[in-house]
Amino acid sequence: MQIELGFNAGNGFRNQPVVWDSGRLVNPHICIIGMTGAGKSYNLKRFVESLAATSGSHSYTAHVFDVHGDLQFDNASEVLFSEQTHYGLNPLEISPDPHFGGVRKRTRTFLNVIGKVSRVLGEKQQSVLRNLIYDTYENFGFHMDDPASWVIEQGSTVLPSKERFYIDVPYEDKSDASALGARWDPDARCWWCHFDDYRDGLTRWPPKHFTRTNPTLEDVLRYAKHINRCTFLGANSEACTKLEIVHKKANSFVRKRLKSLATQSGYTADKEAEELERAKQRAIESYTEYVNSVVSGKEVDQLLKYDSSDVLASVVDRLENLNAVGIFKAETPPFDTTKPIWRYNIRALGIEERSMFILFKCQALFEKALELGETDRIRETIVIDEAHVVMDDDPDNIINKIGLEGRKFGLQLLLVSQSPEHYPKDIMTAMGTKVVLGIDELLWKPAVGKMNIPLDALKWIILRKRFLCQMKWVGQAQSAWTYTYFRPINDTNKTQTGARS
Ligand SMILES: Nc1ncnc2c1ncn2[C@@H]1O[C@H](COP(=O)(O)OP(=O)(O)O)[C@@H](O)[C@H]1O
Ligand SMILES: [Mg+2]
Repeated sequence: MQIELGFNAGNGFRNQPVVWDSGRLVNPHICIIGMTGAGKSYNLKRFVESLAATSGSHSYTAHVFDVHGDLQFDNASEVLFSEQTHYGLNPLEISPDPHFGGVRKRTRTFLNVIGKVSRVLGEKQQSVLRNLIYDTYENFGFHMDDPASWVIEQGSTVLPSKERFYIDVPYEDKSDASALGARWDPDARCWWCHFDDYRDGLTRWPPKHFTRTNPTLEDVLRYAKHINRCTFLGANSEACTKLEIVHKKANSFVRKRLKSLATQSGYTADKEAEELERAKQRAIESYTEYVNSVVSGKEVDQLLKYDSSDVLASVVDRLENLNAVGIFKAETPPFDTTKPIWRYNIRALGIEERSMFILFKCQALFEKALELGETDRIRETIVIDEAHVVMDDDPDNIINKIGLEGRKFGLQLLLVSQSPEHYPKDIMTAMGTKVVLGIDELLWKPAVGKMNIPLDALKWIILRKRFLCQMKWVGQAQSAWTYTYFRPINDTNKTQTGARS
């Protein structure tokens, strides 16, 4: 793939096109550095369109993260992301690759990103959250040490009805489910409730999926709340459910009695009283059983994993906040797969949310690239405007990993930022091509050191007219900075003279 960056200003090469050529460079990564108004967006658009235009007959996609919502392309598919949209991304989607994927790795990257963009979790909180995610995966049939269980069949995972929320209730729990208000659908052969009624005790049972799916953040949150309730009530799921049924029956008894008194109907609510009594008995049995089972240690382990209820409550709180961000949804965004440029308009998201979005999406793209295997060509470009919000020198940072390993797997980075200071050293050295559109005078000194760029070269730049670029060609030990014009020098002069006369 090729990009005509500009025209050479050097003696002896004057006006020769300066061409970026993926086939001859050590790696395809590009960074663009420019102060406000230097033309970052303008060049980003130009570069991406050239990449798409020269990608040949291969399938190629540029993923453009548009933080300001101002990057218009000719041949792009655009999707707006906000709390209101029903699609998003699922940070818990498992990669089935036995080496790079799996439950542990996914959980680790999830915790890493969360820690990076929002308040860092304490050690105890981290461990609680990790256990909650592990358990949720286990509940969804993903076993940590069994890579075969990480593979899921493609296909519809949606619930079959918009009115009925189907719940996966095991046979032995059916009377509990019924007592909590669930109903049986004989055709679907499944328990269900109305969407709004799926809360509290009923959430002990997960939603019924007719094919296996990845859990979502919401599933973790629901499970966390359930565990939280159990810890609070000091018992296991079984006993908690029975206690909740007691509350429900007591409620119904009291309501009936009050109504009967008010209407003087003489209804004694004996039936309700009896049901309440039975429910109490069952709860007592259940609690007794639980207390006795504590000796076996198994039940205690289950709860001890979750530390104190304070820690658990704080994790539930954090999960609730994350979920409220509204970008974590299982439904995939409706991009037009025939278009080479996908514009993720994330302007509506807050700063932390944008970073989370970009990092999780990059993680997913990287894993997909690994799955597809090694290649010589560029299959996908990740384009990040204002890239400083997601860059740091943590080797676990996905941007660093892509900088180091992306090339082999056909993944290119195009990073755009205002100052060289925004680029950690490792990312800077990983860039095969650097384009400097203009740097604020105050930052010249650090730029000279960091990018090994002569001060005189920086002084030579004229915004939107002259810029510098450096490309690392295969087989060349040193790469010089090329003094470049946007348009051929004489052409510009001619039109200017022409315009004057
Ligand atoms: N090389 C160029 N030739 C002509 N116009 C340019 C060039 N670079 C930038 N511009 C124009 O200058 C303005 C600012 O550019 P922009 O890309 O938005 O800057 P930045 O994103 O760095 O703040 C835009 O109107 C853009 O069209
Ligand atoms: Mg811009």
